[in-house]
Amino acid sequence: MWDPVAYLSFADHRSRPFHELVARIGAHSPRRVVDLGCGPGNLTRTLVARWPDAVVTAFDSSPEMVAAAREHGVDARVADVADWTPSDDTDVVVTNAVLQWVEGHPDLLRKWVGALPSGAWLGVQVPGNFDGPSHALTRELVASSWPELTGLMRVDPVLDAAGYADVLGDAAEVDAWETTYLQRLTGPDAVLEWISGTALRPVRAALDDAAWAEFRAALAPRLRAAYPRRADGATWFPFRRIFAVARVR
Ligand SMILES: C[S@@+](CC[C@H](N)C(=O)[O-])C[C@H]1O[C@@H](n2cnc3c(N)ncnc32)[C@H](O)[C@@H]1O
Repeated sequence: MWDPVAYLSFADHRSRPFHELVARIGAHSPRRVVDLGCGPGNLTRTLVARWPDAVVTAFDSSPEMVAAAREHGVDARVADVADWTPSDDTDVVVTNAVLQWVEGHPDLLRKWVGALPSGAWLGVQVPGNFDGPSHALTRELVASSWPELTGLMRVDPVLDAAGYADVLGDAAEVDAWETTYLQRLTGPDAVLEWISGTALRPVRAALDDAAWAEFRAALAPRLRAAYPRRADGATWFPFRRIFAVARVR
């Protein structure tokens, strides 16, 4: 289950890539703007502010997130992005930090750019940390001590920038890039806290409270060694993200 309150506690690190993605979308007066996997809707609101004359709709598979988005005044509905298809008036689609959870999403992207009207814009951002120490250490721990969780470990669920350019390039002009943000996290076990709310969610869901506490206790020292905490209390956490903006021909 996604927790809107925990999610918003990291809002700044999360919102920066959204803004950098949307800044590359050049639409002037779109008819319909769609935010796929909108989360708590705080970022969807910035789309409403940028394109006040557009119909802005948002979708998320989590009822809790949709409820939070509605509280932000966003027209949000519960839906799986895999079931979404563009209407003829959809001029902008944004999907930020969502498709890493969606198996086979390159095929969806190919379908969406093939169905969007000429001139429409599609902006995609996904995290690309799956080879980073945080994820590698988690996989190692699972392999050595929780082999029953191996099926939950996701290896390489995203493409690199060239991969997305390739997928989108048949039907669109593509602007694709990647960035590694050096995130400054604070507090004890800051990296563990960060990934508990993201990559470890499937592990959390599979374990009872006692087993989850045991899992975290085993992972914490490994993460502390890989991401040492500075004397000032900060922990630097490199975070790679992959972006693609497509303009349909
Ligand atoms: C990391 S959050 C990103 C939220 C928002 N786009 C942002 O940038 O803050 C991922 C969101 O994707 C949603 N999600 C994951 N899989 C989904 C799916 N298959 N269909 C719709 N939403 C999905 C989750 O419920 C969650 O709200």
